[in-house]
Amino acid sequence: MDLTSESTTAAVVDSFAATPDPRLREILQELVPHLHDFVRKVRLTLPEWQAAIEFLTAVGQKCDENRQEFILLSDVLGISMLVETLNGQSSGTESTVLGPFHMVASPEREHGDSIALVGGGTPCVVSGRVVGTDGAPLAGATVDVWQCNAEGFYDVQQPDVQPPGNGRGLFRTDAEGRIRFRTVVPSHYPIPTDGPVGKMLLATNRHPYRPAHIHFIATAPGHRELTTHIFVADSPYLDSDAVFAVKKSLIADFVEVDDPGQARAHDVANPFRAASIELVLEPADVG
Ligand code: BEZ
Ligand code: FE
Repeated sequence: MDLTSESTTAAVVDSFAATPDPRLREILQELVPHLHDFVRKVRLTLPEWQAAIEFLTAVGQKCDENRQEFILLSDVLGISMLVETLNGQSSGTESTVLGPFHMVASPEREHGDSIALVGGGTPCVVSGRVVGTDGAPLAGATVDVWQCNAEGFYDVQQPDVQPPGNGRGLFRTDAEGRIRFRTVVPSHYPIPTDGPVGKMLLATNRHPYRPAHIHFIATAPGHRELTTHIFVADSPYLDSDAVFAVKKSLIADFVEVDDPGQARAHDVANPFRAASIELVLEPADVG
């Protein structure tokens, strides 16, 4: 059988017709025409296809138990954020990317504890509240928190400098759905650039920076799990996040407080910054 460019596409689509899993069949039969159209549209050359294979091979070879270069590729192509947004809550707090640094269990901490285990940086108090979409507080919800330090590094990136668990905490909400913790204001930071994704950013004149943020995962029985951030309102790169994960509703003021009485009450140095976040969770049965 002689195949033309168009009939090859139809033949490949047809080759998946007997796939027993209907969702897998749908995905593959949609994917193939898009890929073929792309190849036709840019008139991909053999050396370019070879370069693409070498790039994807290098992405795979960079992966190990601590490094997921394919997720990073998905992040910088905006696909992680697209999938997150399509599958996020329809009425609660907006979600954003998980990122690669939630790789260790966060230590359990008490209301008011500090997650900044070493000195340095601007002291900060974060107050949060977990509620349902009806506004009712969710007592006993868990809130997993992780962030980089004031220099822009997560604990796992600096095992010789930061103690494990620095910048991390697993909190449980009180009867009013509240959590509170002390920390330092996180810095903006570059995503890992020592692999093929970094080379791609360099070759395309893209910077690798993410604006300063704190990560959260909130869970409560009977509710959908929420993965999100708060972004520091005066951080650089809010308009050009390397992984396209900023949503306006997630930008929070980290207000400067110059009040020795309040500083004493929170057990932080004066002046300090204060931020708050409300995490609104949908019932588990909402699409
Ligand atoms: C992060 O926020 O931790 C992150 C997200 C995507 C890529 C790299 C880092
Ligand atoms: Fe991060």
